[in-house]
Amino acid sequence: MTYNFDERIERRGTGCVKWDSVPVTPSTGGGQGEALIPLWVADMDFAVAPAIQEAVRRRAEHPIYGYNIVEDDYYEAIIAWFGRRHGWTIRREQILYTTGVVPAMSVAIKALTQPGQQVVILSPDYNCFFSSIKNNRCKVSESVLLRKEDHFEVDWDDFEQRCADETTTVFLLCNPHNPTGRVWLRDELQRMSDICHRHGVRIVSDEIHCELTMPGHTFCPMATIDETAVVLNSPSKSFNTAGLQIANIICEDDATRRRIDRAININEVCDVNPFGPRALIAAYNESEEWLDALNAYLWDNYKALCDYAAQHLPAWHVMPLEGTYLVWVDVSACCDNVADYCDHIFQQTGVRFNPGTMYGPESGEGYLRINIACPRSLLMEALNRTKTIIA
Ligand SMILES: Cc1ncc(COP(=O)(O)O)c(C=O)c1O
Repeated sequence: MTYNFDERIERRGTGCVKWDSVPVTPSTGGGQGEALIPLWVADMDFAVAPAIQEAVRRRAEHPIYGYNIVEDDYYEAIIAWFGRRHGWTIRREQILYTTGVVPAMSVAIKALTQPGQQVVILSPDYNCFFSSIKNNRCKVSESVLLRKEDHFEVDWDDFEQRCADETTTVFLLCNPHNPTGRVWLRDELQRMSDICHRHGVRIVSDEIHCELTMPGHTFCPMATIDETAVVLNSPSKSFNTAGLQIANIICEDDATRRRIDRAININEVCDVNPFGPRALIAAYNESEEWLDALNAYLWDNYKALCDYAAQHLPAWHVMPLEGTYLVWVDVSACCDNVADYCDHIFQQTGVRFNPGTMYGPESGEGYLRINIACPRSLLMEALNRTKTIIA
C-alpha cells in the first residue's frame, strides 16, 4: 500500500494546538499570504494510518462514550509489538495505563522521589522534564551534553558526579533524545545504568520517540538492559495520535509498580477515553507498514532540509538526525539570542520554530528546533520564507 505524506491537509479550525493556538495578526506573516507555518509543537501534519482511522470511526459509531477500561486485546497488542519490533519481552502485569507520557512522568517522579530531592536529566532536554520535576517539588540537575564535532555525548564524569549526590534519586532519560535527535547506543545505555546502580539512582526512561529512527540507527529499550528501569511509552508520537491521550508505564518491579499505581490514582490520571485504546491496538497490530513508510518520508524531509540549508542558509548548521522528527539546528553563527531570533523569523514570515532555550536555558542557546513532520512542500515553503529574511 502507498501512503500520501505529500498531501496538505487543512488543520485550521480543528482546534489543534499547532495551527489554531497562534494568533495570526497582520504583523505575523509579513504579507506572505497564508500566514502561519508552524514547525514547532511535536505532532505531525499527516493523516494517521488507515487502520487507526477505521478503529476510531468504528468506536465513534457506538453512540455511548462513557467511562472506559482497557481489555485483553490492549495488553496483547503492546506485548506483541515490543516483542516483535524491539526484542523486548513484556508481561501483562508490568503494564499500567494512563492518559499521556507527561502524566506518566509526573506520577513516576511522585512515586520515586521526596520533595527537595534531585532528578538528573541530560540537558538540553524535553521542556516538560523541567516542569514535571519542579511541579513535584524536586530539583533539576542538568548534566549538559558534550558536543564533539557534530555528535552529542554524555559527559560521563559530570553525569556520575550528579548521580553520586546523596539527594539524587532518579535519572529521567529521553530515549531517543528530544531535542538533539540522538538514538542512544546499547553501550551508552549500559554505562548510564551502571552509573545509576553504583549510586542507587532509579532510571525513568521516556521512550515516546522510540519508533522514529533514521537509517543506520536502532532503538534499544532501556528495560532490556536494566530491569529496574521504569519505562514510559505511547504510540502517540509515531502514529500521530497525541490527542487521544493514552500511554503506558512499564515496570518490572512489583513494589515500585504499586507505588506508581498509587501515584496514578493520587494524580487522578487513571481514566482513559474510549478512543485512545482502540487507536493503540490498530497502531501496533495493523500499522507497521505505514510507520516504515513514514520513517522513510521523514528521512527524505531531513535530507531536503540539509540540502536546502547547505545551499541557501549557510550560517545554519543542521545537526545529524538519528531519531525523532525534531531537527536540532545550530544557528549560533547568526544570532546571540535564539528566542529573539525565532521571534523575529515568526513576526516577519509566519514560520514558527522552537528556540533551543526552551530545552535548556543555557544548553539550548544558539540552537533552534524544527519539526519536519509535514508535507515536503510545506517544509520547503517555510525554508524559502526564512531565507528571504535571514540569508
Ligand atoms: C520526550 C517526550 N515525552 C513526552 C511527550 C508528550 O507526551 P504526551 O503527549 O503523551 O503527554 C513529548 C512530546 O513532544 C516528548 O517529546
